Amino acid sequence: MTKFNRIIILTGAGISAESGLDTFRDKGGIWEKYDLTQVATPEAFARDPDMVHEFYNLRRGMVKNVHPNPAHKALARLEQEYPGEILLVTQNVDDLHEKAGSKNICHMHGELGKVRCQACREVMMWWDDLDRHTDCPVCEKKGRIRPHIVWFGEIPFDLNKIGQYLENSDLFISIGTSGTVYPAAGFVQAAMDAGAHTVELNREPSDGYSLFEETHYGPATQVVPQYVEKLLKEAYA
Ligand code: OAD
Repeated sequence: MTKFNRIIILTGAGISAESGLDTFRDKGGIWEKYDLTQVATPEAFARDPDMVHEFYNLRRGMVKNVHPNPAHKALARLEQEYPGEILLVTQNVDDLHEKAGSKNICHMHGELGKVRCQACREVMMWWDDLDRHTDCPVCEKKGRIRPHIVWFGEIPFDLNKIGQYLENSDLFISIGTSGTVYPAAGFVQAAMDAGAHTVELNREPSDGYSLFEETHYGPATQVVPQYVEKLLKEAYA
């Protein structure tokens, strides 16, 4: 019999670190190299679209060349084999969960491989570079295409769906996130309020580690496959 029927998994940059993508707040991370107010806010885009496009063109280029690691693959296996519902909520804008085979995913901070037109609102898959003159292939307006990314000051995607799921979950697993950016940083409390068991899998204790009932520390490529193995074993015991 399964101990948990509805599992919600939150992932952050730490799960993709061993695939070769920088995290944000670790030493040498993205926010050490870039001022987020210059590249990741709607104000920055209005002021200097070239700088914002350059930042996301670079990141899009990097993501095109990396592969899912054993942690992404373990979560895809869990979704396939676990006899219960699983929702994967990621703060990551890369597509490594999809490449690993996960299907039920909310990209709450958007996706590097998508853009949207601010004129006609169409959301499109897009892996090429963008610039301030790029035409919208749907409405043909020039210069209205932006990355489909949630910038600071904007509302994350899928919050209603995530909130409803959290209210009814019985296991919450947080993986590779520093737990510093809200609303995601508040999910552990919401899960606890719903009576869920809470688990942190991270390289080291996050800011909110004391809220978790169970913790396992080490590289994601080790702790995530181990934890998934344990969940599957218990489910079929
Ligand atoms: P952070 O860079 O804040 O945190 C990364 C976490 O991953 C840290 O707790 C690290 O200890 C952990 N970590 C690093 N390498 C790891 C590894 N190999 N295995 C396991 N854990 C590892 O990244 P996020 O928490 O994802 O938002 O950041 C949250 C949001 O802040 C991002 O989505 C982004 C950023 O600003 C926006 O851009 C809107």
